[in-house]
Amino acid sequence: MPIDERISVDFDHHSLEWLARRHEHNAELRATCPVVWNPRYGGFWFVTGYEEVATVARDSVTFTPRYPVKRIEGDDLNYIGIMGVPRPKGMPQIGIAEAEPNRHAALRRLLNPFMLPPAVAAFRPFVEQTATWFLDQKIAEGAMDLVLDFTNPVPAILTMKMIGLPCTSWQHYAEFFHATVAYGTTSPEYQHAMSIMPDIVGELIDVAEHRRKKPEDDILSKLVTLEVDGERLDNDELIAVLWNLIGGGVDTTTSLTSLALHHLEAHPDLRQRLIEHPELLVPACEEYLRWTSVNETLTVTCTKDTVLGGQRITRGDVVMMSWLGANFDPAVFDQPEELLIDRNPNPHLAFGVGAYRCPGLHVARALFMVMMQEVLSRMGDYVVDQENTRFYQGNPELFGMVRMPVRFTPGQPVGVARPF
Ligand code: HEM
Repeated sequence: MPIDERISVDFDHHSLEWLARRHEHNAELRATCPVVWNPRYGGFWFVTGYEEVATVARDSVTFTPRYPVKRIEGDDLNYIGIMGVPRPKGMPQIGIAEAEPNRHAALRRLLNPFMLPPAVAAFRPFVEQTATWFLDQKIAEGAMDLVLDFTNPVPAILTMKMIGLPCTSWQHYAEFFHATVAYGTTSPEYQHAMSIMPDIVGELIDVAEHRRKKPEDDILSKLVTLEVDGERLDNDELIAVLWNLIGGGVDTTTSLTSLALHHLEAHPDLRQRLIEHPELLVPACEEYLRWTSVNETLTVTCTKDTVLGGQRITRGDVVMMSWLGANFDPAVFDQPEELLIDRNPNPHLAFGVGAYRCPGLHVARALFMVMMQEVLSRMGDYVVDQENTRFYQGNPELFGMVRMPVRFTPGQPVGVARPF
């Protein structure tokens, strides 16, 4: 394959301007070259083409998330980190992908029984009851915040239950996590979250200690007794896994469902179609996954010289894959900007691909289906208060909604017992 001259484009993917126009920027970059060099943040490749993103993600030997942190002298941020976000010094690892391959494989084996279809089928009644209970609290008022009162708590409570954290503490962990992703790194919300991070880490270690003495049927109990090559996880590794699970569990599904509900309000015909034909939620879920691409990027490091998209990538180079860029590549998706619930095939990369593909994908789909059905069947005429609706700002890794107040025709509570 011929190697082209390096294509360098200088852009700040952390700036609010860039993030507000992330779709246009991804499209412009892809049209320039699916693999471009950005000299910012110590220099990194930004990959927006579907084929190129899939190539990187499938080859976890050449491109590994294991050596991600570059330190720049005199700077108080660590670049780039697995999340592609500069993280403050001292902030722990934030993903299981940073574990050594054999530890990573052991962690995936440990998580699978909690996340594969049989487990999802077993906890679905709990999710349904939780969703019904939360709507029951607001249905008679005819007004609520769809994010704060519904799409936020339901996945968070399931996450607490799966991990083995107290369900009643869902707000504590969800609010903390959201503060770290929904606002820019200079915002007071983010700064406050960083200041209480040591306390949160301490709490998690305490719960882990408790589970070590008294194991139960949850992920945390399995994590504290896991041995790989005769070694237990140390506290840093344990926190990295918990961080990943809490983040994956309390944030992404909330974002997917909130953004889908927001979109449907502006498209009443589609909303009506889904109310009348709930079975269409199955393909709609896949299309909303593609179209929202709430988990936008993953950053890896190149371990040996190679060529990608005609560009020469050198050992040690940082490579940021844009799942969002891939999911809007017109070479694979006709009319990529349009949300087409009948799109078929829909080979989106919203859950990633390769060794680090999301293990929580069945959980996420089930949560989406239950929450969408609950809203569409009980308060399907909701109207969004756009003026007071807020989206995430300042995060090139995750996209989502902070709040979405709505009004709707009041209904009757079903009267289910509180399930948590
Ligand atoms: C709409 C929902 C979700 C989306 C779009 C999503 C997307 C992704 C993507 C793209 C990755 C690959 C790595 C990366 O880019 O960060 C990933 C990894 C991961 N996700 Fe999800 N996720 C979702 C829900 C969940 C849920 C509900 C859980 C847990 C209950 C979860 C747990 C994880 C974990 C543990 C990893 C790390 C896998 C590894 O490194 O081997 N995710 N997710």
